[in-house]
Amino acid sequence: MRITDFDIYKDLLKKSSGLVLSQDKSYLLESRLGPVAKKWEFASLEAMTVALQAVPDKKLVNDIIEAMTTNETSFFRDMKPFDLFRDTVLPYMLKNRVNQRKIKIWCAAASSGQEPYSLAMITKEQGSVFSGWDISVKATDISNDILDQARNGVYSQFEVQRGLPITMLMKYFTQEDEKWRMNDDIKKMIKFDYFNLLDSLTPLGTFDIIFCRNVLIYFDEETKAQIFEKMSKIIAPDGFLFLGGAETVLGITDTFKPVKDKRGLYVPKDSQYGEESAENEAPKGTQAIAQ
Ligand SMILES: C[S@@+](CC[C@H](N)C(=O)[O-])C[C@H]1O[C@@H](n2cnc3c(N)ncnc32)[C@H](O)[C@@H]1O
Repeated sequence: MRITDFDIYKDLLKKSSGLVLSQDKSYLLESRLGPVAKKWEFASLEAMTVALQAVPDKKLVNDIIEAMTTNETSFFRDMKPFDLFRDTVLPYMLKNRVNQRKIKIWCAAASSGQEPYSLAMITKEQGSVFSGWDISVKATDISNDILDQARNGVYSQFEVQRGLPITMLMKYFTQEDEKWRMNDDIKKMIKFDYFNLLDSLTPLGTFDIIFCRNVLIYFDEETKAQIFEKMSKIIAPDGFLFLGGAETVLGITDTFKPVKDKRGLYVPKDSQYGEESAENEAPKGTQAIAQ
């Protein structure tokens, strides 16, 4: 690919999705955008590049973003954040939201749904502890194709074998031939919607817990800082932010701070969390995930 063409895609992706493309990923552009050019009936990738320099069709830009984003995910990915969610965050919320009996969770880069479904299954596993509570999960992503898969909630044998305990598979899924369908009682806890993290977060409302894992890693520091700043305005002052294992707020923003000894877990800068030691313990009644 010519350097000028590479720069056109690089700018387009950065501006429309935040994705930063380094020159060594040039080969990825060719392999992933070839099929997009074909779908849109351009004679070649170069012809598509020329079309993009005029006023680009929004749907074409979306197809390019979808082709270039990485949707890698799995149930209970990395496990530890989900242990923290169950043993640290939910017990804290049980205590701190006892009057409202409401917890709002946002899964900000939900991909094909395994992450929000994992959260919903954990809250379901708590049984009567949260009886009468309204626990909702909003799951968003920039890719409409991946959101359709997530809403559908149908997974292959390979996908359910990656991280999902067999007890949960049996309890929350129904087998359909070679596939497994998420049951409706879990599905109805989640609302899937298109959302671009570069946009204003205000229309989303406020949240108690935000999962934003394994997406900021693709953005530059300035974009990450802007997103943290926006998140700090819509998260409850005593809320929690989960980031991926290779992501951090350190050196990027002071709107959030890491929770000591709880890797991947962050709280707003003025949060009192952690200042009372008993808060870090799971009270009796929260249910562990059976492996
Ligand atoms: C690697 S997946 C991570 C999925 C899940 N959070 C996890 O950790 O397993 C990254 C997801 O971020 C989405 N994404 C990329 N850029 C985005 C943006 N600007 N706004 C919202 N989602 C975005 C991609 O479509 C993709 O589904």
